[in-house]
Amino acid sequence: MAAEPRRTESGLPIEPVYGPEALAGFDPGTRLGPPGQYPFTRGVYPTMYTGKPWTMRQYAGFGTAAESNARYKQLIANGTMGLSVAFDLPTQMGYDSDAPISHGEVGKVGVAIDSVEDMSVLFGGIPLGEVSTSMTINAPGSLLLLLYQLVGEAQGVPSGRLTGTIQNDVLKEYIARGTYIFPPKPSLRLIADIFQYCRAEIPRWNTISISGYHMAEAGANPAQEIAFTLANGVEYVRTAIAAGMDVDDFAPRLSFFFVSRTTLLEEVAKFRAARRIWARLMKEQFGAKNPKSQMLRFHTQTAGVQLTAQQPEVNLVRVSVQALAAVLGGTQSLHTNSFDEAIALPTEKSARLALRTQQVLAYETDVTATVDPFAGSYVVEAMTDELEASILELMAKVEDLGGAVAAIEQGYQKGEIERTAYRIQQEQDSGERTVVGVNRFQLDAEEPYEPLRVDPAIEAQQAERLKRLRADRDSSAVDRALGALCKAAEGSDNVLYPMKEALAARATVGEVSDALRGVWGTYVPVDRF
Ligand code: 3HC
Repeated sequence: MAAEPRRTESGLPIEPVYGPEALAGFDPGTRLGPPGQYPFTRGVYPTMYTGKPWTMRQYAGFGTAAESNARYKQLIANGTMGLSVAFDLPTQMGYDSDAPISHGEVGKVGVAIDSVEDMSVLFGGIPLGEVSTSMTINAPGSLLLLLYQLVGEAQGVPSGRLTGTIQNDVLKEYIARGTYIFPPKPSLRLIADIFQYCRAEIPRWNTISISGYHMAEAGANPAQEIAFTLANGVEYVRTAIAAGMDVDDFAPRLSFFFVSRTTLLEEVAKFRAARRIWARLMKEQFGAKNPKSQMLRFHTQTAGVQLTAQQPEVNLVRVSVQALAAVLGGTQSLHTNSFDEAIALPTEKSARLALRTQQVLAYETDVTATVDPFAGSYVVEAMTDELEASILELMAKVEDLGGAVAAIEQGYQKGEIERTAYRIQQEQDSGERTVVGVNRFQLDAEEPYEPLRVDPAIEAQQAERLKRLRADRDSSAVDRALGALCKAAEGSDNVLYPMKEALAARATVGEVSDALRGVWGTYVPVDRF
């Protein structure tokens, strides 16, 4: 029986058989290069995992700083190699736990951080000079970075030794994720201030994690995910250059974040194509000379949207395949989802199993024994080339609309993503797309499962902590520092220096954000569908 014709997730044809004709005219010298060399198709480091495994970095955080601190210590004890902090929604939106708008959300999807005091508890007993920490924080990214620096200083760690990443990618918040505060112009200015500040003060910090993950979770296909992410990257590069920075002064610390789906072959091709496109863009369009500026380094999270609440243990299998795709695609850092994430916060056991999945891949399989094992594969090279072409086409469309911000203002990326999401849902509903346990191979009755829930009392506890903080601190010092911050925000001085003063004087995340809201205003989304 002839194999049925298939299409990749990006909608490109996938042949039942690939042979040498797929590589006709293929020049490995220019299309691949050796690992660790331009255009970095085969990976950013010459030795890749044969030299050092990727960073196993599990995203975690819930409830109070003390509870999250305990979870981080468990993860470290289980062999996690880097931390990844999840903040609750009020923190992500720049509100204190006792603000009326925070009600019902405190500590829910991440940890509640109101001030430097919470931050000290969060990292209590964790040596910041030895661990690298990612913080998923966007509009208030500068605040959380400065709080981290303040805790580092209190631990006696010079800022030059601090390593980690803030997500700080506000453009994708307008497109897919929603935790924006300010309009695009001041948001981009703040990002340029962060690039400059980090270069001067925290040089090993990855200043941004330009993210396609959330667009993918909202429905973007692999080509859209990479195209819109790299287009946002281009916007940040242009912003920093326009602010007077040399490209090689900030580009080595740009980082990326993508999803990994169960469609393994296309995902591997996607990661390889993304690296090649970015390297070429940086070298040819922006004149980057430092190879580090041309290297697309990225974190991967396995696709949460592919996990099912039905027969949740099956998710362990999905996550293994997704994680394998990320590793074969050359990721620098990886989060594997817990099997129960479609239901609730992961339990201690499910979080451990997720990490064990990475450890099996790294230490039991042979995929880490040689670099870029798919190089030269008829199908993967053909897919890499085809995906590259479709990504470039979509990026050209964004350019035609005037660049990423102009396209966002016209609702372009969001509209495209929503159309894809709709199509996927229709395919699932019609049974054209199989989801094991959901539209095929269902169980008559699901087994009961006891998920972890956050204690609602945490909201009152945080409010009490804030009350004490406000009573104990020198409020005139706070007011002075917030005044200086507003002045910098109105003018063109880097806002991070007065912001650090304010946070050190124990101004809260909400107060600092409110001060900036007062100067810069807030963003009102456009929906044109
Ligand atoms: N040979 C030589 N050196 C090597 C090497 C090799 N084979 N492999 C690694 N290294 C070196 C690197 O050069 C680096 O050294 P440097 O700091 O001096 O440059 C060091 O080892 C660490 O390696 P990497 O930089 O490759 O790995 P990191 O883990 O430190 O950084 C990153 C990876 C992608 C650049 C970084 O930005 C990162 O960690 N990102 C994580 C982002 C993240 O976790 N996000 C979570 C998002 S969750 C979310 O959004 C929530 C929700 O809404 C879904």
